[in-house]
Amino acid sequence: MSDAVVVKERRPESKDTVTLTFDWDVHVAPGQFLMVWIPGLDEIPMSVSSVGPEKSVTVRKAGEASSALQDLQPGDRFAVRGPYGNGYNLNGLKTLVVGGGVGMAPLMPVLRTIYADLVIGARSSDEILFEEEASRYCNVIRISTDDGSQGFHGNAVQLAESLMDEGGYEQVIACGPEIMLYYLFQACERRGIPCQLSLERYMKCAVGICGSCMLGKERVCVDGPVFDSGRLRMLPEFGRSKRDPAGRLIRI
Ligand SMILES: Cc1cc2nc3c(=O)[nH]c(=O)nc-3n(C[C@H](O)[C@H](O)[C@H](O)COP(=O)(O)OP(=O)(O)OC[C@H]3O[C@@H](n4cnc5c(N)ncnc54)[C@H](O)[C@@H]3O)c2cc1C
Ligand code: FES
Repeated sequence: MSDAVVVKERRPESKDTVTLTFDWDVHVAPGQFLMVWIPGLDEIPMSVSSVGPEKSVTVRKAGEASSALQDLQPGDRFAVRGPYGNGYNLNGLKTLVVGGGVGMAPLMPVLRTIYADLVIGARSSDEILFEEEASRYCNVIRISTDDGSQGFHGNAVQLAESLMDEGGYEQVIACGPEIMLYYLFQACERRGIPCQLSLERYMKCAVGICGSCMLGKERVCVDGPVFDSGRLRMLPEFGRSKRDPAGRLIRI
């Protein structure tokens, strides 16, 4: 069942990304997601970017539903159901967090909860998310941009690898484009560092019934979206293929 909520604040984060805050007094763990219903349009999965009594979702414009969600203004209503999925296991290990693009959204509740070093990856300086807020929680923040407009000129995995080689990290926690996560996973495997990665698949029910989010034998909505190294090793589709809305396997 969905709950109606009201947009409290609408905060532009970058040229194509907006955070909407709303009051919703339901416990959500860092890394869990909601199904967000945009009246009259569609229901789409969104990570929760603030998990206190005041919640937020951080929305990047992808298509019709995410654009309409972004356009909501303070006082407008939408509906949420959840929370769904397993979230991150926040233990006491020395952690490197790696966020690519809007993948920073589910990582903000992690950074507010544990001490960690952080790599933020973006295509360009005007797409870097949450740098200022994250600097309140993290001693070490490194930025990578694909076009070199800020920080390290290259991708987030290359930068994370250089930190891993000097930082003595006991785990890596990440979210971002799957191709980034795939190469990050390989980098962690080479160094024997366990990781927890949040994956995306096309979702409809979010409660494990419809099968649209299958990744090998796993249903990303209930068995994920966060997968640890042991389970990622068992997923040959990870980084290679995903299912489209009709259920067909397509190459990533
Ligand atoms: C667990 C999870 C958490 C997510 N968290 C965020 C987030 O915090 N912020 C954010 O901006 N985006 C997030 N996404 C992605 C977001 O759900 C899609 O961008 C959104 O559904 C696109 O819908 P659209 O109608 O705007 O675009 P469309 O034009 O319909 O699609 C654009 C792209 O999004 C994919 N997509 C469309 N519908 C879904 C769906 N129901 N499930 C998964 N992918 C879909 C399409 O396959 C396509 O690649 C998350 C996805 C998942 C699975
Ligand atoms: S979205 Fe239906 S089983 Fe996962």
